Amino acid sequence: NEKGVFYALDLGGTNFRILRVHLKGEGGGLAAQEFTEVSIPPNLMVGTSDELFGYIVEEVLKFVAQEGEDFHPAVGRKRELGFTFSFPVMQTSIASGTLIRWTKGFNVEDTVGQDVVVKLNAAMERKGLDMCNQRQVNDTVGTLAGGRYTNKDVVASVILGTGTNAAYVECVQAIPKWHGPLPKSGEMVVNTEWGNFQTSHLPLTEYDHALDAESINPGEQIFEKIISGMYLGEIVRRVLCRLAEEASFFGGSVPPKLKVPFILQTPDMSVMHHDMSPDLKLVGNKLKDVLDISNSSLKVRKVVIEVCNIVATRGARLAAAGLFGILKKIGRDTVKTGEQQRSVIAMDGGLFEHYTEFRKSLENTLCELLGSEVSEHIVIEHANDGSGIGAALLAASHSKYCQADES
Ligand code: GLC
Repeated sequence: NEKGVFYALDLGGTNFRILRVHLKGEGGGLAAQEFTEVSIPPNLMVGTSDELFGYIVEEVLKFVAQEGEDFHPAVGRKRELGFTFSFPVMQTSIASGTLIRWTKGFNVEDTVGQDVVVKLNAAMERKGLDMCNQRQVNDTVGTLAGGRYTNKDVVASVILGTGTNAAYVECVQAIPKWHGPLPKSGEMVVNTEWGNFQTSHLPLTEYDHALDAESINPGEQIFEKIISGMYLGEIVRRVLCRLAEEASFFGGSVPPKLKVPFILQTPDMSVMHHDMSPDLKLVGNKLKDVLDISNSSLKVRKVVIEVCNIVATRGARLAAAGLFGILKKIGRDTVKTGEQQRSVIAMDGGLFEHYTEFRKSLENTLCELLGSEVSEHIVIEHANDGSGIGAALLAASHSKYCQADES
């Protein structure tokens, strides 16, 4: 029910976002919101903690400097920041989080084992950014909170972007790990970190094993490496490279660019996969522009689309299986007698948002697993920018800790 202006910093991939939202209070929703998106220079993703957080804080400073009058904090109040930090952390309160390990191509070694809220606060102090930063959440948790703010039927959230993960609302009795004080509601949010899920039943191929072995986090995030946006294009590249090496798929020699890791990105793969033109012109253009392969035949282009289709479908079906597992765990996978509860899943991330074939395959698979009767009561909702807004909302709900006179 808090009202006022809140900032959020959303760090979870190669781009980060800074938002400010104006809350009307009393469940009245958002009066206004503004955001900016900044990409992180690749060297900072594998550099030092001070460099990374320093760079981020400088961008927040710039964004705050552009604040219009209607976003100014009330007299006597500091600006308040919610921090969405979408990496695995050990969290015992909303005000802190110790980084367990980096994922998604980050490898800033001196942050592992450290409290990321402390790191961000230290950078803010160094750079002279005076904001109250006491709340840290994962993007899945932010998306769940943001979704539930407007729709009480939201039971889970799924991120399908650079990485993948899901969170859901669980009864506290079902969480043996939790030894802290019990919430009055009897419910708690569980961040599953499903990106790190592993089992021998996963349909891994030699391409996946090679990708994993050559990654900066071998043996980790296996589920994520076969589902999420950071990796799908790279899997396709590996398959095409093999076709070139062993079947002279692109002519006598292997196109040199095809050997460059991560050169083919998932958005490129998506463009090729959705090409509906009779001569598959978009596939031809991508092969030329990204991989320097000119004059590809129609036959070759068709095979490229088939490879994209296989890789995307596998990822989408596995993501649907994960979601089905959660629905099953919370008993939303069966038809109940009497009034049927609606279950809404808040989804976000570029892969879900932009890769239509992936999304369709995920939705179809979920229906297939649930059956048509139950499926009618399950709704997948696009939580646009849910994680950032959710962080701002969580900042708002804890804002009593942020009076200016406390500092
Ligand atoms: C990675 C992170 C996880 C995050 C997900 C989606 O899997 O480990 O914390 O939620 O990406 O951004």
